[in-house]
Amino acid sequence: MAKKWAPDSWRGKPILQVPAYPDAGALAAVEAELKRMPPLVFAGEARNLTRALGRVANGEAFLLQGGDCAESFAEFHPDNIRDTFRVLLQMAVVLTFGATLPVVKVGRMAGQFVKPRSEDTETIDGVTLPSYRGDMVNGIEFTEQARVPDPARLLQGYNQSASTLNLLRAFSQGGYADLNKVHQWNLGFVEDSALGERYRDLADRLDEALSFMAACGLTAETAPQIRETDFFTSHEALMLTYEQAMTRVDSTSGDWYDTSAHLLWIGDRTRQLEGAHVEFMRGISNPVAVKAGPTTKTDEMLKLIDTLNPDNIAGRLTIIARMGADKVEEFLPPLVQAVAREGKTVVWVCDPMHGNTQKASNGYKTRPVERILAEVQGFFDVHRAEGTHAGGVHFEMTGQDVTECTGGAQAITEANLSARYHTHCDPRLNAKQALELAFLLAEILKDGRDKQNGRGNNKASKPAAG
Ligand code: PEP
Ligand code: CO
Repeated sequence: MAKKWAPDSWRGKPILQVPAYPDAGALAAVEAELKRMPPLVFAGEARNLTRALGRVANGEAFLLQGGDCAESFAEFHPDNIRDTFRVLLQMAVVLTFGATLPVVKVGRMAGQFVKPRSEDTETIDGVTLPSYRGDMVNGIEFTEQARVPDPARLLQGYNQSASTLNLLRAFSQGGYADLNKVHQWNLGFVEDSALGERYRDLADRLDEALSFMAACGLTAETAPQIRETDFFTSHEALMLTYEQAMTRVDSTSGDWYDTSAHLLWIGDRTRQLEGAHVEFMRGISNPVAVKAGPTTKTDEMLKLIDTLNPDNIAGRLTIIARMGADKVEEFLPPLVQAVAREGKTVVWVCDPMHGNTQKASNGYKTRPVERILAEVQGFFDVHRAEGTHAGGVHFEMTGQDVTECTGGAQAITEANLSARYHTHCDPRLNAKQALELAFLLAEILKDGRDKQNGRGNNKASKPAAG
């Protein structure tokens, strides 16, 4: 029988990545205040996402998860929210149209504020200070004052998440995501490039399909699927003090839900079976995910699956593989084989970002688009060879025209990185690079479906230039 669980039972377990708050009383006061705040999401929405992910687990849909590595207070602006949302919409339409598969859209948005760090401290020019742990914990500026964890930041993060989610809900349900507007989702700096043109072609074809459907009586007025979309939120459940305060009993089911986001995940550094993060996540009824890296052992993974999804519910558990382009073909197959052998149902997702981080010669942390592509391709190859479903992708990306990842159609070089390097943590794909990946993914997915249906063999081509 499963051990008893309570929203605070994680407090009795070993825990990693905890900020050292100087004033426990101030933290407790903020926790009490957070507990009185309205939930950000409703349990019924989390259940809808579990059902949608269940379809992904069964090979009937594809998951697109993306957004900032770390949201920040400084970059908080409606235009930034809108631009990331619209690139995700563009990517989803490319994938849906290209692969004729429904796409479940999940943002790393409205709550992705806390970061795990490899080191507790950072040293610059002989000065050592606590590491930056995300805007909900401390400040990124390298000063003693900024780096002290401040509980008031938890409230600011909550408030920013609430406003962000409010705008995302308005966009997805209020007309912005209407398929008749696909042409308008193209961002200015993407528009006059080969990629922009490729997107316009697709949008023209979609317009034609919509005109045909309208002639048959299916319009934005009669079919809500054309007019609006479901958009879900997610973040790493790292700051358990915050997650516990947001965890409430759902009055309709009597189950506990973490109402800070629809989906929560456990990072690669905090997935210890007996640790606090796994303890917390096993008791909430939201869909949950766990990262799997090259050090994840097969037996560990199977125990994690039993702990996090003991009833083997399709859609409850997603495994986000982040192996690295040169490791995916070695480390992913044993995990996929073991999960299949044990009859476990999970959603397999590829995060091609975190295993491909490098330091450029000028000191910038970067990720070459070519490596990102290679890991995605390797992930699909493994699943094809094993006869399992490659369920989705997980990207760090932004709608802004940043220069953080090298390569891609824009051919960003290491020397270009300093031009617009704005991330608060890891390097993100810019809107062009993200769209380029979506086109490539659509080809891989289409190729897979054609093979399944015994049709043609149009190999995925190289990304468009421009
Ligand atoms: C992240 O998703 O930003 C992250 C830190 O990933 P991982 O836990 O896989 O290193
Ligand atoms: Co990251």
